[in-house]
Amino acid sequence: MKDFSEIKEQVKAKLEAVADGSQLSEFWQSYLGKTGVIQGLMKEMKSVPAEEKPLFGKAVNDVREWAQELYRKKQSEIKALELSHRYERETADVTMPSPVSQGNLHPITLIKQQMIEVFAGMGFEVFEGPEIEDDDHNFTRLNVLKDHPSRDMQDTFWLTEDLLLRTHTSPGQIRTMDAKKPPIKVLVPGKVFRSDSDATHSPMFSQMEGLVVDKGITLCDLQGMLDKFVQNMFSDSAKTRLRPSYFPFTEPSVEVDVSCFECGGKGCPLCKGTGWIEVLGGGVVNKKVLENCGIDPEEYSGLAFGIGIERIAMLKYGISRMGMLFENNLDFLSQFKS
Ligand code: DAH
Repeated sequence: MKDFSEIKEQVKAKLEAVADGSQLSEFWQSYLGKTGVIQGLMKEMKSVPAEEKPLFGKAVNDVREWAQELYRKKQSEIKALELSHRYERETADVTMPSPVSQGNLHPITLIKQQMIEVFAGMGFEVFEGPEIEDDDHNFTRLNVLKDHPSRDMQDTFWLTEDLLLRTHTSPGQIRTMDAKKPPIKVLVPGKVFRSDSDATHSPMFSQMEGLVVDKGITLCDLQGMLDKFVQNMFSDSAKTRLRPSYFPFTEPSVEVDVSCFECGGKGCPLCKGTGWIEVLGGGVVNKKVLENCGIDPEEYSGLAFGIGIERIAMLKYGISRMGMLFENNLDFLSQFKS
């Protein structure tokens, strides 16, 4: 009977030397595959005497099974080895700094939050109204009557005969007074829309409305609150100046200037040499508006103001073109990391 010990030695040695998956499949082809050494042993069957053929066949099968068993052992070793190499390669060090840069708040959001913070400190609550308004809230009950020339102060995007994109946050005054009895102290931040576009105007921008209704409210209260506001926004020594103006919903109406925080009032390019910068409009709430909301103007009075948030941001950050606040250029926006 033929002794297969030589082949067995070879199989052992070759398998021992196998170090990875491709060497393992080479081994399979050379020894266990169809054209491999062990299959080749069967060819010798021809020269084996007939009575020994069964024994010979069994011996070859035994060698094959033995070699297959060794092969499977090696195969699971190689698999485990390759997996551990892969784990090593793909390990992530979670303590490494992140390559992804962190975002930051938009300058408009920063200013809006700062404004809310200042007024919240004076006891204001925040209310937000709808961006689609009706004629009644946006105009008529604010004493901006139909066919009155003051309607042309704002170029309106009309949606239907009655509905429009709100041209200001002032309709928030009406909605607040409909919902609440005095004393009232609210801020209404939000987007507003006007058919208007140039370096300092955009068809969409943001405003912050303020409304106070209580007994004995005067223009002095307005100026006191706005002084606090500009000191917090611009500089501790900033003060305000009121100039007479006209808005249908306030009487008297004022345009509010802040003393130039760039030159301290001496005159510079930012304030165009005047020492003052216009920042917002306001006034004492028109009695007709209080009446339109069922509030007795003999008992209560109010003050109101409307601030353009982009305008404050442009002044504070020295931004010359309003478009920069809407174009979402990341180089520009990433400068506002707080
Ligand atoms: N709504 C006015 C505008 O958009 C701004 C404004 C002026 C609001 C005076 C007020 C105010 O509340 O009293 O032009």
